Amino acid sequence: MKTAIIVSGGDAPGINAAIEAYARLAQEGGDQVVGAQDGFAGLLAGRLTELDRALLTRLSGAGGSILRSSREPVLGQSDAGDRLRAAMRAKEIDNLLVFGGDGSLKHVLPRLESWGAPCVALPTTIDNDVAGTDYTLGHDSACNYALWAADGIRATASALPGRIFMLETLGGHSGYLALAIAYANGADAVLLPEYDFDLDWLAGHLRLVVERAGYALVTLCEFVPGINSIVDEIPRRCGIRVRYTALGHAQRGADTSHYDRRVARDMSGLAWRALKDGLRLGTLVMRDGALSLREGQMPQADKPPPDYALYARINGL
Ligand code: F6P
Repeated sequence: MKTAIIVSGGDAPGINAAIEAYARLAQEGGDQVVGAQDGFAGLLAGRLTELDRALLTRLSGAGGSILRSSREPVLGQSDAGDRLRAAMRAKEIDNLLVFGGDGSLKHVLPRLESWGAPCVALPTTIDNDVAGTDYTLGHDSACNYALWAADGIRATASALPGRIFMLETLGGHSGYLALAIAYANGADAVLLPEYDFDLDWLAGHLRLVVERAGYALVTLCEFVPGINSIVDEIPRRCGIRVRYTALGHAQRGADTSHYDRRVARDMSGLAWRALKDGLRLGTLVMRDGALSLREGQMPQADKPPPDYALYARINGL
């Protein structure tokens, strides 16, 4: 069996660990594995690289991806099916192992199925916003990175009281990542793109927190509506200085946590077994803490919004 590994869309911590685990299993089982550079665009262009096991082992805990990704929508082109089949035939590739987030899985899997290209997908994004799974690879590492930053902010916040601190996470238009971080870091308020909030309420709430605790820590998602005005408006409305930290892409490139390394290995093991058994299409999903292989397509609907009860509890609503 020969598998081509493709990273489609954004990278995430855990990809290198999963590639390493898959390559190890495959090679021990007498199979071949190659990696596509630049996602599906690279596969179509025949940009395949051998996987260097020593390098893989050394980088398996690093964030990012040793296989470059791409967001080019090449599979939407009219001749993409023929080109994909030809590229796989030319390199004698039997099946694909695909890493992807919500967009990739929704758009890529139906196409691969219709073209008869066997594939197992690993939901991979720090955002944890893929419908049909409770967990996506990389989320835990991104949360840990934010907790490290929040701990640093708290150290300086308590040493020099009288300020409001805002910690902006990635997450795109989904608040799953910011909510998970806010809960774990004991934030005084959390702002998510899915739920509207009132600036006067926020200013009043934070003033009370600062009076009681000396400082306030807000966790907010990058695409909260009106985010650019918050930094000016909060001091204007409550008379307390605001200090702002945006984690940005450093969060996405974070080192891989223990949990993500374990999930990566478990996912790779199940993926390799399934492809070996001749599965045509499947995705590794987490439900109630258990990992399993879901055969066929993933849901086309969006994941429901993050837990409102938790959001309300953190905000004292
Ligand atoms: O979807 C993963 C993610 O890191 C989001 O959290 C973020 O909004 C986006 O990708 C950033 O994308 P880009 O790398 O194109 O700036």
